[in-house]
Amino acid sequence: MANDGLIVGLDIGTTKVCVVIGERNDDGLLEITGVGLAASTGLRKGVVVNIEATIRSILTAVEAAEMMSGQEVHDCWIGIGGNHIDGINSRGVVAVTEKKRERGERDRDIEQEDIDRVLEAARAVVIPMDRNILQVIPQSYIVDEQRGIRDPLGMIGVRLEAEVHIITCSVTSAQNLMKCVNRADFHVNDFILQSLAASRAVLTNEEKEMGVALIDMGGGTTDVLVFVDGTPYSNITVPVGGGMITSDISKVTNISFETAERIKIEEGCCWEDLLDADDEIVVPGVGGRPPLAIPKSQLLAIIQSRVEEIFLMVRDRLDKLALSRPLGGGIVLTGGGSQLQGAVELAAEIFRLPVRAGVPVAAGGIVDQYRDPTYATAVGLVLEGDDRERRMLPEQQRVVGESRNRPEKKPGLLGKFIIWLKTEFF
Ligand SMILES: Nc1ncnc2c1ncn2[C@@H]1O[C@H](COP(=O)(O)OP(=O)(O)OP(=O)(O)O)[C@@H](O)[C@H]1O
Ligand SMILES: [Mg+2]
Repeated sequence: MANDGLIVGLDIGTTKVCVVIGERNDDGLLEITGVGLAASTGLRKGVVVNIEATIRSILTAVEAAEMMSGQEVHDCWIGIGGNHIDGINSRGVVAVTEKKRERGERDRDIEQEDIDRVLEAARAVVIPMDRNILQVIPQSYIVDEQRGIRDPLGMIGVRLEAEVHIITCSVTSAQNLMKCVNRADFHVNDFILQSLAASRAVLTNEEKEMGVALIDMGGGTTDVLVFVDGTPYSNITVPVGGGMITSDISKVTNISFETAERIKIEEGCCWEDLLDADDEIVVPGVGGRPPLAIPKSQLLAIIQSRVEEIFLMVRDRLDKLALSRPLGGGIVLTGGGSQLQGAVELAAEIFRLPVRAGVPVAAGGIVDQYRDPTYATAVGLVLEGDDRERRMLPEQQRVVGESRNRPEKKPGLLGKFIIWLKTEFF
């Protein structure tokens, strides 16, 4: 497990690998002490397609973070995402067992063991052989007829029902990710859904309670996590990301992908009102050809149509959820692509909801580079990893950041999955 209060988040994305190192200081408070970034070339749409290239990116990013923090990385919390992730809602029901108390009395107090049993029952869904359960997230509990209970521990009841969100992933995608991290000589503490990690870093509890959709605009995919009543309700992946915007610019204007990426980042915009003047951007010609002038309005048209397409696909998927009430917390945009000028304005028009840009919360420490949407997932991995480690610590050592959740049974569901991955394939 973790070495001496060091918590490392490793986000292996389609365009970049990002490492964030968190350390607990003497007061037990988490501080971010190192960040590292490296270009990623070994993934397509969030899935590893080239092991060696991915290992190189991981090593480069970890080295940079180690240099900054002065600490050596051994164990990491790994983000997992992309097209192969799926989510379903399920429920399970059990009878609360009668417990014998000291003076021979009997009662039906709900204990952790009852909660574990009902979660086990809720995860008993049929999933294809090539998929595995990544995470089971409790949404709410029903005790007898009483609905909407967040924490049934200690309540008295006969019948305990759990509503859960089950996240599944492709076994081979997880294996390949694991292989890259292990071959780079790091130990995987656990896999954590990338968008869940990002939500931990950028969403407020109030937004989650009111209902919110977090849209992580990555390079290869756009991942959405919808919260209803404070917990994840649905996760959606749209297989289009920022890389396609760049490739559109490159194809339409006949310039290299690298130049297209640069002008997208420096000059790109997807909302007319933010375009100051219809100047031209002059880019060097390919293969000794004369420089090329691209009107900003043309650039806007190319970018806008692709971003619009992404948002419309997300809106369509959100509509299909047929939520019982609108998302009061609106839409929060994060990920590298959310830095595109006008993305918030365009999203507000398409979703007709309040929209804001999501930057990772301040987590203390000497560096502040992590306060950038590109780092949202990696920062969230550190926060979530810290939470999970604290839950496993003895009571007196949990100085701050007490979680609402109780200690997890070891190994948890994900732990079992990792053990299974290791025993079956490594
Ligand atoms: N300032 C900017 N304006 C527009 N786009 C940007 C900006 N900065 C970064 N991007 C885009 O963000 C994308 C990368 O985002 P991010 O780093 O979140 O992706 P990733 O995590 O590597 O990919 P994925 O999550 O899809 O696996 C790239 O397409 C990049 O061009
Ligand atoms: Mg990403």
